[in-house]
Amino acid sequence: MIELSHVNKVYSEGNRAVKDLSLTIDDGEIAFIVGRSGSGKSTLLKLLLKELEPTSGRIVVNDMDLGKMPRRYVPKYRRKLGVVFQDFRLLKDLTVFENVAFAQRVIGVPGRVIRDTVPEMLRLVGLSAKYKAYPAQLSGGEQQRVAIARALINRPEVLLADEPTGNLDSFNAHEIMHLLEEINQRGTTMIVVTHSHEMVQQMKKRVITMERGAVIQDEGGSR
Ligand SMILES: Nc1ncnc2c1ncn2[C@@H]1O[C@H](COP(=O)(O)OP(=O)(O)OP(=O)(O)O)[C@@H](O)[C@H]1O
Ligand SMILES: [Mg+2]
Repeated sequence: MIELSHVNKVYSEGNRAVKDLSLTIDDGEIAFIVGRSGSGKSTLLKLLLKELEPTSGRIVVNDMDLGKMPRRYVPKYRRKLGVVFQDFRLLKDLTVFENVAFAQRVIGVPGRVIRDTVPEMLRLVGLSAKYKAYPAQLSGGEQQRVAIARALINRPEVLLADEPTGNLDSFNAHEIMHLLEEINQRGTTMIVVTHSHEMVQQMKKRVITMERGAVIQDEGGSR
């Protein structure tokens, strides 16, 4: 479970990016965060990643109070989360297979395990045929699938995605959204930030709307 209570984030310039935000996301839930540019969506994800510290308030992710987490534990905490960025952040000199495998190599997963888990994950995201390709040889939607596979390979309990469809045409954007939905149905808790209100409305899931750092609407979902 992800719990934010009365969270505020004031950047040093005095800009209040998040204002008194309280929110609970249950285990296994998928929540979309929508809102205009500058409404605080990315700031919210950065707070959850502990890339930023809240000015006040409390954030608890799967029973871990981020405010009380020792600094040396932060890298370990981040490895428990899967993260997908708008700009994919793939390693251009590595193949699709190696980009996904890399996330496992850095945490010391043995090669024989990687040889099983990577093909399985590439099947899940529909990229089995492209395992030898380099990022430059893929479409935007395919690159984003690699990024999703990489985020999921270590079976995170929580997936955070910041505009995972931002650079994609509407066909690819819908495909990625449905892929995320499918993965969520396997039990991964997800927070997905997007500009596109229209797209998520069709999905009949929880949609949280932010405006000027606050939640102004929270509808749908199972609550
Ligand atoms: N590092 C920073 N220093 C100062 N102000 C910042 C910083 N990052 C973001 N802000 C400000 O905080 C507010 C929220 O920004 P944030 O990036 O969270 O918005 P967003 O909803 O993700 O927008 P977008 O849809 O454009 O990605 C904005 O007013 C922004 O200018
Ligand atoms: Mg943003």
